[in-house]
Amino acid sequence: MSIVFNQAQDIFHLTTKNTSYVMKVLEKKYLSHLYWGKKIRSSNLNYILQFRDRCSFNANPDGFGSDFSLNIVPQEYPCYGTSDYRTPAYEVQLENGTTVVEAYYKGYKIIDGKPKLQGLPATYGNEDQVKTLEIELYDELLGLKIILSYSVFYEQDVITRSVKFVNGGNEEIKLLRGLSSSVDFHSDNYDILQLSGAWARERNIIKRPVAKGIQSIESRRGFSSHVQNPFIALLDKKATETNGDVYGFSLVYSGNFLAQIEADENDVARVQMGINPFDFNYLLKKSEFFQTPEVVMVYSDKGLNKMSNIYHRIYRENLMRGKYKEKERPILINNWEATYFDFNEEKIENIVKQASSLGIELFVLDDGWFGKRNDDKSSLGDWFVNKNKIPSGIKGLSSKIIKSGIEFGLWFEPEMISEDSELFRKHPDWIIHCENRSSSLGRNQYVLDLSRDDVCEEIINMISKILEEAPISYVKWDANRNMTEIGSSKLETNRQRETAHRYVLGLYKILENITSRFPDILFESCSGGGGRFDPGMLYYMPQTWTSDDTDSVERLKIQYGTSLVYPIISMGAHLSAVPNHQVERITPLDTRANVAMAGNFGYEIDVTRLEKEEKDKIKNQVEFYKEIRNTIQFGDFYRLLSPFEGNETAWMFISKDKNEVIVFYYYVLAHPNPTDKRLKLIELQELSNYALAETDEIYGGDELMNIGINIPYCLGDFKSYIFRFNKI
Ligand code: DGJ
Repeated sequence: MSIVFNQAQDIFHLTTKNTSYVMKVLEKKYLSHLYWGKKIRSSNLNYILQFRDRCSFNANPDGFGSDFSLNIVPQEYPCYGTSDYRTPAYEVQLENGTTVVEAYYKGYKIIDGKPKLQGLPATYGNEDQVKTLEIELYDELLGLKIILSYSVFYEQDVITRSVKFVNGGNEEIKLLRGLSSSVDFHSDNYDILQLSGAWARERNIIKRPVAKGIQSIESRRGFSSHVQNPFIALLDKKATETNGDVYGFSLVYSGNFLAQIEADENDVARVQMGINPFDFNYLLKKSEFFQTPEVVMVYSDKGLNKMSNIYHRIYRENLMRGKYKEKERPILINNWEATYFDFNEEKIENIVKQASSLGIELFVLDDGWFGKRNDDKSSLGDWFVNKNKIPSGIKGLSSKIIKSGIEFGLWFEPEMISEDSELFRKHPDWIIHCENRSSSLGRNQYVLDLSRDDVCEEIINMISKILEEAPISYVKWDANRNMTEIGSSKLETNRQRETAHRYVLGLYKILENITSRFPDILFESCSGGGGRFDPGMLYYMPQTWTSDDTDSVERLKIQYGTSLVYPIISMGAHLSAVPNHQVERITPLDTRANVAMAGNFGYEIDVTRLEKEEKDKIKNQVEFYKEIRNTIQFGDFYRLLSPFEGNETAWMFISKDKNEVIVFYYYVLAHPNPTDKRLKLIELQELSNYALAETDEIYGGDELMNIGINIPYCLGDFKSYIFRFNKI
């Protein structure tokens, strides 16, 4: 049993294959946190909490003596105002304006399987894979139910948490804060790991010590954002890729979020995650409810690689959906960096012909095919083909492309609208905006108000019309700005601060509709590269354009950081031209391929302009990737050397059946008189032998892990090598 309630001790013990998560109901009222970590037996857990009078400034809830204060109790879902001075997990405002809630433990329910979270993406599993514990906290005065859900994926070593607020009383309640999870750790002697960046340099790894007070990462942009990713981990001070305790928190949500660590005066670290309370309110009228998104929590006793393996597996198997979940993804070519807006039908046909002869499997027509769009100043919202550029229309062009033996994909940016568009002239109030205020432009465009049903419907109709009329097998769903002046012309005054969240719900409704209506289409999400690379989007679209930065040196960091949480199959990685368009660096064709091939591989280059030698190389790359693709996309991935720590980067893949091992090594800048380098592998079978594909040389698993492989002597910048082993 993965969920057990010990009635005698009032203790809930949740277990996965390797972990335990334990809570206790104190004094029949308060749900407190006892333990999360490596699996333990459940013999005597009552000794964990100690109560004593610590100081008179800790108040004692009504009816309790001076040795009991909520300020010293580790809590599961702390409230505000009744003796815990730390940050609450939720806060509500009553009609009388006060904000104190007294919600106490009422009961629990264990469910086989995992109920859906209404309107929100979430992990899923059948009754054999997952069990759910629902604990109810209840405020009698308000009739407010707070249902805490814990879903336990036993085999996957994952626990997910979410919360539902139900207004069962007679008055209107305003939810001011409703986080998805809160965990009080017994110590604050940890480091925080976060994935931070900016446009074109997303998800760089930042590590900092937990310090007294509050540290947080968040998004206020309406999107999860390039700047911070909705992920945070607590690491013990000695944790590495292969050792140490690591606690990961990943939010399945694509909008404003908060991840916060508060280290208090008793050396407790409180880690919280959920929708950002900044500029957020949610009104709950009688019988209405609010569902928070879920947090996917992973504990690893063997460092970051194990944590990532767990996230990769649960997101690949229990979050992604649809036909492509288990299908190898096509090698694509996208015309964006090859042509930008400057293309016509003939140019596209030439690219396609060439790409097809190189073995590339899918052509993607990017921005600029619709309305009168020849730059980024117009036409978003006018989703009809520009016949001046493509006289045969999308239908005609796609049929021609398919005849050349390659699939056809199309770019959209459905959530946005250009000021210069027919749609905006017709519906100027359809944008996110505040009445009587000016509206800021970003890339000459506004954000459509997806909190409105009529806007969502129109988007569904416009996009579906094109997808229905032509044989399109792939869609790139882009979104190139963040929100400002957040408000909606359709929402009541006291619901304006719901706009950003309702936008996300509207987006999810559109995606659910379109992806289920077109189940054969492979969808890739994008937001100026990786501005919305989050688990919420992966639920609908099983791959994401990782970054607009395709420079192979920068990509080492971006892909390394992204791999902390997100499966390799979800990371779009394309080889592009040199000098690189983002950093103007010139790197060898082989290294550009070797970096991109460690992801979901493709090209972003004008293949009609290549020299014969380059074409031959690309043909070989395509062939090679097809051979290794299954291991890259479905195998286990391990990081070996970090680009954040030195000049070398390395990572490796082991196929599902453990028979193939592929190692990637990158050396960024040359040094004179280099020493001999050796790279140790991990997670091989000690007593098995492995043959190096290029030379047939045989190595023992124990040798590869304890001695390592020799890296060829190299001079010159930006070198890289791939070693492919087969187990014999
Ligand atoms: C941003 C994307 O990340 C690019 O790949 C490209 O699609 C442009 N938008 C097009 O406007």
